[in-house]
Amino acid sequence: MAGALWLVLAVVGGSLCPLVVCGDQSFTIDYSRDCFLKDGRCFRYVSGSIHYSRIPASYWRDRLLKMYMAGLNAVQVYVPWNFHEPQPGVFNFRGDHDLEHFLNLTMELGLLVIMRPGPYICAEWDMGGLPAWLLNKKDIRLRASDPDYLEAVDSWLSVLLPKIRPRLYNNGGNIITVQVENEYGSFAACDFGYMRHLHAVFRLFLGDDVVLFTTDGNADYFLKCGTLQDLYTTVDFGPVDNVTKAFEAMRRYQPRGPLVNSEYYTGWLDYWGEKHAVTPSDTVSRGLQAILESGASVNMYMFEGGTNFGYWNGADFSKVYKPITTSYDYDAPLTEAGDPTDKLLAIRSVISKFQPVPIGPVPPPTQKFAYGFVTLRKVGDLVDLLDFLSPSDPFVTQYPITFEDVKQYFGFMLYRTGLTGDVPDQTPLSSVANGVHDRGYVSVGGHFFGVLERDGVKDVNVTGKEGQWLDVLVENMGRINYGSDLKDFKGLIGNLTLGGELLQNWVLYPLNIDGPISQGWPHIMADHMRKTAQTESRTGPAIYSGTLTVTDIGDTYLKLPKWTKGQVWINGFNLGRYWPERGPQVTLYVPGSILSSSQVNNITVLELEKAADQLLVMFLDRPILNGTFVRN
Ligand SMILES: *[C@@H]1O[C@H](CO)[C@@H](O)[C@H](O)[C@H]1NC(C)=O
Ligand SMILES: *[C@@H]1O[C@H](CO)[C@@H](O)[C@H](O)[C@H]1NC(C)=O
Ligand SMILES: *[C@@H]1O[C@H](CO)[C@@H](O)[C@H](O)[C@H]1NC(C)=O
Ligand SMILES: *[C@@H]1O[C@H](CO)[C@@H](O)[C@H](O)[C@H]1NC(C)=O
Ligand SMILES: *[C@@H]1O[C@H](CO)[C@@H](O)[C@H](O)[C@H]1NC(C)=O
Ligand SMILES: *[C@@H]1O[C@H](CO)[C@@H](O)[C@H](O)[C@H]1NC(C)=O
Repeated sequence: MAGALWLVLAVVGGSLCPLVVCGDQSFTIDYSRDCFLKDGRCFRYVSGSIHYSRIPASYWRDRLLKMYMAGLNAVQVYVPWNFHEPQPGVFNFRGDHDLEHFLNLTMELGLLVIMRPGPYICAEWDMGGLPAWLLNKKDIRLRASDPDYLEAVDSWLSVLLPKIRPRLYNNGGNIITVQVENEYGSFAACDFGYMRHLHAVFRLFLGDDVVLFTTDGNADYFLKCGTLQDLYTTVDFGPVDNVTKAFEAMRRYQPRGPLVNSEYYTGWLDYWGEKHAVTPSDTVSRGLQAILESGASVNMYMFEGGTNFGYWNGADFSKVYKPITTSYDYDAPLTEAGDPTDKLLAIRSVISKFQPVPIGPVPPPTQKFAYGFVTLRKVGDLVDLLDFLSPSDPFVTQYPITFEDVKQYFGFMLYRTGLTGDVPDQTPLSSVANGVHDRGYVSVGGHFFGVLERDGVKDVNVTGKEGQWLDVLVENMGRINYGSDLKDFKGLIGNLTLGGELLQNWVLYPLNIDGPISQGWPHIMADHMRKTAQTESRTGPAIYSGTLTVTDIGDTYLKLPKWTKGQVWINGFNLGRYWPERGPQVTLYVPGSILSSSQVNNITVLELEKAADQLLVMFLDRPILNGTFVRN
C-alpha cells in the first residue's frame, strides 16, 4: 500500500529523485551501537534551528549558506500551521510562505533537515502555531482528543505531510527525522490518545520507515506525558544544564539509540518590559563541546532567530501576560539580520574538533545603511479613517464580544458606545474582570484619556458629554504560545463600567489596516484628499506617513525616538510592533529586500498613544535591542 501511495505522490507531487535511486539512501537507528545510521554508517547531526516564517524569502539562501559554512550538517525547521492556513481550508504556500522553496534551498546547499511539523510548535509564535480560528468553537480542547480539534489537525496534516513525504531521506530527499507534536509533556492534558492519533496520521502519510521522534524537557515530569512507544525520545537543555544528568533522564525513557539534544539554547527570547537576554559565547561553546564529547547529536536553538514581523509574536503567561518582542534575534550565532557573530565563530571552532567544517570564510555581514531622518506627517486620527480601515458594516451588540466572535484574528478592533449622559468629573472607565485582551486605547469625543492594560491598568478616568462616542481601540498583542492558557481570546472579554454603570449597546469595527496599506494607501491618495487630518494633536491612535528615497539598497534599522507604541509598514510590508517606551527593543529590523531605489519608499505608522512632537523617525546602521526597559 505504501508503494502505491508513493507512486501516486510521485506522479501528483513530483518527486525529487527518480524512483530507481531512492533505494540508495537510508536513514535509520542502530540501537545496538546507539547511533543514527545514515546509508549504513553511524552518523551524528550538528544542527541549527531556523524559522523561515521569520525571514523574508529572498534571504533564505543567504542564511542557510551561512549555517552550512558554520559547519552544520543539518537544520531544524518548524512549520507554523497558522502561517499557512489563515482560514479553515484556505492555504498559503506562496512567497514568504513557500515552504517547498525553502526546503529546495536546504537540499541545494547540502543540508539535512529535521522537520517539526507540529501541529503545535510553541516557538514563541502566536498561539504556538495553532490557528486562532480553532477558537470559533469556544469550548474546544486544544492539543487533546477533541473531535473538532482532531478534524482540523487531520485536514491540515493531509495537506502538509504529502509535501514532506517525497523529501524524506529514505525517498531520496534530505529530511532525516520528523518530530511529532512539541514538548507535549509540558502540557497538562497528558492525553496519550491524542499522541497515538498523531502517530497514526504521521505514519499514514509518511510511511513506516521514517524516524519519528518527540522532544521534551529533561526531567521525568516532562518525559512522562511527552513520550510514546515507537516515537524516538529526545530531550532539550541549555548551556548551564548538566549534560550527564540530562541524558540520564533521556535514557530512562529511551534506553538504547543515539543521544539527542533537540534544543540546545544559544540564547533566549525577549519580553517587552524585561531586560534583553544575553548568553555569553564561551558558555555556549563550552556546553556544546560537552554535548559533542558525549557523542550526542545536537540541534542549536536558535541558530538564526529572525523577526516577528506583522502580528506573529507569541506571549507567555506566568502570573501575568508577557508578550514577546518583535525582534527574535535570540542572541543567536547569526543575528536577526543574518550576520555572523563571535558566537558563530566559537561554535564553528568547537565543531571543527569533531568533524570537518567547510573550507573558506563564513560570508561577511551584509552591508547596513544609516539613511538618516525622515519627517512624517499626520494622515488622520484612526477614528476619522474608518471608511478606509473598516469598510464593511460594523457589528452591533449589547455587550462586548471577542475578536474571534467576529472572525478578526489579528491586529485591532474598535469598540464604540455613546455616552448616555454628561460626565463632567473625572470618572473611572473600568475593566471589571481584567478583561481587556490585551490593551485598550481609550478616547471620548476624540480626546485621548489613556490605556487599559491586561494584568496592569484596570481603570482610566474620563470626562465627556452626552452623545459623544466612547472609543476603546483594542490591540491583540499576540496569543499565549506555551502552557495551559493557550485559549487566549482577544478583545473585550469582559464588560466595562463607567463610574460603576455597566456599559451597553456597543458598535464594533474590525480593522483591516494591512489591506489598504498593502494596496498603497494612504500614499496613493491625491494630496487634497490627504489633508484629512482634522487635528494636529499628537495623542491617541492615529496614522502618520512619510517617504524615504535611497540610492543604495541594504538592510537598515528603524528607530522612532520619543514615539510611544505602534505598528510600522514600509512599502506595505508590516515590520511589526515598536514600543521604545517599554523596551528593551528600540529599533526595528528593516530588510533591504523590501526597499526600492527607483521609487520612493512609503513609510506608514500607526501610533497608538503619543507621537514625537517633530514627527521624526530615523534609520540607523545598527540595531539597539538592549535599551532601557520599564516593567509592566
Ligand atoms: C523544488 O525543486 C524541484 C526540483 O528541482 C522543482 O521541480 C520545484 O519546482 C521546486 N519547487 C519550488 C517551490 O521551488
Ligand atoms: C552532573 O550530573 C551527574 C549525574 O547526575 C553527577 O554525577 C555530576 O556530579 C553532575 N555534575 C555537576 C558538575 O554537578
Ligand atoms: C480618577 O479620578 C479620581 C477623582 O478625581 C481620583 O481619585 C483617582 O485617583 C483617579 N484615578 C486614576 C486611575 O487616575
Ligand atoms: C456583561 O454583563 C451582562 C449582564 O450582566 C452579562 O450577561 C454578559 O455576559 C457580560 N458580558 C461579558 C463579556 O462578560
Ligand atoms: C509609494 O507610493 C507611491 C504613491 O502611490 C507609489 O507611486 C510608489 O510606487 C510607492 N513606492 C513603492 C516602493 O512601492
Ligand atoms: C548594548 O549592547 C551594545 C552592543 O553589544 C553594548 O555596547 C552596550 O554596552 C549595551 N548597552 C547596555 C545598556 O547594556
